[in-house]
Amino acid sequence: MNSQTVTKSDWYKKMSFYQIWIRSFADGDGDGIGDLYGVYDKLEYIKSLGVDGIWFSPLYPSPNADYGYDISDYKDIHPDYGDLDQFRKVLDKAHELGLKVIMDLVINHTSDEHPWFIESKKGADNPYSDYYIWRDKPNNWDSLFEGKAWEYVPERGQYYLHIFAKKQPDLNMDNPKVREEVKSIMRFWLDMGVDGFREDVINFISKKEGLPDGLPFLPAAKGMPHYKDGPHIHEYLAEFRQVCNEYDCFQVGEGPMTTIKTAMDYLTGPTKSLDMMFSFDHMMADCFYTEYMHRPFSLPKLKKAFSSWQYALEGKGWNALYMENHDHPRIISRYGSHYYWKESGKMLAACYLFLKGTPFIYQGQEIGMTNIRLPSIEHYMDISSKNNYYNYHKKEDPDKRLKRIHLSSRDSARTPVQWDDSQYAGFSTVRPWFYVNPNYKKINVAGEEKDESSILNFYRKCLKLRKSSDTLIYGKYKEYFPKDRQLYVYDRCLDNESYLIICSFSRLPVKLKRPDKYIGKKARLVLCNYEKEGHIRGFLRPFECRIYRYKD
Ligand code: GLC
Repeated sequence: MNSQTVTKSDWYKKMSFYQIWIRSFADGDGDGIGDLYGVYDKLEYIKSLGVDGIWFSPLYPSPNADYGYDISDYKDIHPDYGDLDQFRKVLDKAHELGLKVIMDLVINHTSDEHPWFIESKKGADNPYSDYYIWRDKPNNWDSLFEGKAWEYVPERGQYYLHIFAKKQPDLNMDNPKVREEVKSIMRFWLDMGVDGFREDVINFISKKEGLPDGLPFLPAAKGMPHYKDGPHIHEYLAEFRQVCNEYDCFQVGEGPMTTIKTAMDYLTGPTKSLDMMFSFDHMMADCFYTEYMHRPFSLPKLKKAFSSWQYALEGKGWNALYMENHDHPRIISRYGSHYYWKESGKMLAACYLFLKGTPFIYQGQEIGMTNIRLPSIEHYMDISSKNNYYNYHKKEDPDKRLKRIHLSSRDSARTPVQWDDSQYAGFSTVRPWFYVNPNYKKINVAGEEKDESSILNFYRKCLKLRKSSDTLIYGKYKEYFPKDRQLYVYDRCLDNESYLIICSFSRLPVKLKRPDKYIGKKARLVLCNYEKEGHIRGFLRPFECRIYRYKD
């Protein structure tokens, strides 16, 4: 790719995104729940980070069995968050500020309270009867959130499929009418002016014909061939792509358990149906499928995950880069250190923001929010945490199970954003819907705004640097010392310029290693997460990261 050419269709390559999970972002109307009024007031802040777009996790009406990922109306806004007029105001202001806006498109399933399902339940002879997947006899599939994947409905005398919770029945994408509905939803938001979609579990939407028995989710958690990357997936995505092409919008797909090999079909070649994909590989450097199995963090594993995707997509596809989102616990608590909170928070920013791809930053990540530890499982809200506690791990003793939840619950990403050190962390004027992390007096936006060396300001510096350099956007990636258990070292090269990124994941000082090709060459240190003083020559301080620039 030539460094200068950003054609109409690849504007997203230069961008970086900020993800909003609205319920916990900012409460603008004083009811303890984040909303679009809060978002409106924070748009300048988002812009100030140096990002170019916002991804909204679902804003639609939903009974909140899975906090918005169970939609009961695709063409409206949840009353907790505002209304369509307020959404339009947010959209217009975001656009005025130069921020693109993408919506979450959740089409593998709806809520069981969606009118389509309410009708479908009634029997096999109404217009919505084939909108969902009904069978007389269930197969052996397990759901990801609640026991078996089938639920019996006496009214209809049949079982419906739910890969996630019971309240999230899977849509029957093989039904052309359902696909027309999807296109109509897309057009609804695109006509309003949104710029694209993040597509939820998009690799699940086409199921294997005949729905044969498959490997159960446990213990063969490696893959779910029976409902992943199904036979018609690319046909269906091509139809949706067609809609997007009418609008110059872009699509990033979420691909749980996607391998590089299958991702290539989505991202490259004749079927290229998505612009980017969120892979989960690097999220498994300490645990498998969020709360299922917890392992000690392994840096080589993290590096391998990053590098494999970087190498495989070079010149062929484009990566979506992220370290946090609403489905994963906070990274400082996982891959960094609470003791070296500031240093590790900054290093973890640098370790992925300079990879090749479009970075996504999750609300609160930019100030180094950390995991919350609630005293009992009853305090947690997330359906998947509860499922892990009560079902997957029911044989373990309760203390061990709670410890797992502390380490891995999605709720750690869902505590209210810490705006300042006032009551309720400035998120709301009343008690928020969910617990505020007690560390808000130390970790909050207002405090970090005032501190030049804060994690917040480091994110700004990283994003500014990335944006300023074609090398950091289009340059080739190469990793060095892959087996090293403490350092992550990679470079990005384009023409006669290189950036060398060195990140220490160690709590102790470690020897600075540089690839041979850079030894003796003149370098400029362009970014570091420590002040200049106190540096021992040839060593990196705990969690130190350095970014050097070389020019021939
Ligand atoms: C995706 C979402 C997650 C949700 C699931 C089911 O993985 O990111 O939050 O629970 O899909 O919709």
